[in-house]
Amino acid sequence: MITIHQPRRLVVGAGSIGEVGAWAGQVGSTLVIATPVTSRFADSLKLSGKVALFDAIPGEPDIATLDAALEAARNARPDLVVGLGGGSVMDVAKLVAALWDSGQALADVAGPNRVAGRNTRLAQVATTAGTGSEAGIRSLITDPTRGSKIAVESPHMIADLAVLDPELTYSVPPAVTAATGVDAMAHCVEAFTNRKAHRMIDGFARMGFNLVGKYLARAVRDGEDTEAREGMMLASYYGGICLGPVNTAAGHAISYPLGTLLHLPHGLANAIIFPHVLAFNQPAVVAKTAEVADALGLGKDLSQRDLLSAAKDFCAGLGIEMSLAANGAKAGDLPRFAADAHAIRRLMDNNPVDMSEADVLEIYRAAL
Ligand SMILES: [Fe+2]
Repeated sequence: MITIHQPRRLVVGAGSIGEVGAWAGQVGSTLVIATPVTSRFADSLKLSGKVALFDAIPGEPDIATLDAALEAARNARPDLVVGLGGGSVMDVAKLVAALWDSGQALADVAGPNRVAGRNTRLAQVATTAGTGSEAGIRSLITDPTRGSKIAVESPHMIADLAVLDPELTYSVPPAVTAATGVDAMAHCVEAFTNRKAHRMIDGFARMGFNLVGKYLARAVRDGEDTEAREGMMLASYYGGICLGPVNTAAGHAISYPLGTLLHLPHGLANAIIFPHVLAFNQPAVVAKTAEVADALGLGKDLSQRDLLSAAKDFCAGLGIEMSLAANGAKAGDLPRFAADAHAIRRLMDNNPVDMSEADVLEIYRAAL
């Protein structure tokens, strides 16, 4: 049995950001959550009424970021919260919409189904194609003292409106397009090959990784290729649906310490690890792995070793620096990374084949 949550309304297409105002209607007060880069799209939302902007969202939002955004909301007293950005922005927007006027703090809602409710409408306008955060009910906030992520999940965090406007992603640089695109694919592939895989989610996953195979290289090559950008936004959205009832597995678990401890962007961390986990898992999910390899143009009937090298070439061909050492990791860091990754049981337990701490360390070493 699975349960799927999706936004109440979804608008897809070039120029669709302008639909937000019409959907919102007369609103007393809106809080737009953004970054210094995405805040320039705020006027395109065409909102009426009082609009407050909070744009101090960094790449990896932590507890202090959320607290500052909640403070901005308590000042603005919004009827509508708009997340205008990538996953970091949208994750914060979900929590702000649900918590700003409630008695609950982050610690009260960590984990599944602990948010009491939500009084404020929520619109999510994605400006990257990667996280699929607009599709789902989960938020990840970094706890800097523990160096780990706090996951909050609640149906009260689903968007009333989600907007996928490919024009908002035109200016995403090629390197970020590549890394976040591989992250979107990883959401699909890790759900597809998951111990908890479900055939309905498999359908979304297939649509997602096939779109990545078709469009990611095009979107990297020409940022204003609308068809390719829209294809990647859909892949990201489908990946977001995969994250809901099935979620990711070892690939994301192994990537997280690279974000929390090495401070690599989430997409890049996942892109570096993706080929290694795809190949490691191959013997346990032969047919599904072959389907992924075919969709990405990696080849047919590949050995584990050839699959690893073809998947690495796929990522490197998009311009992604695939070496952990080149991204600042030292050999001495790896045992700590391995211990942390192996301890993320909520994801590791989803992997189609058990991975020991030594296996994880071996993957980091191979990626170094
Ligand atoms: Fe991800």
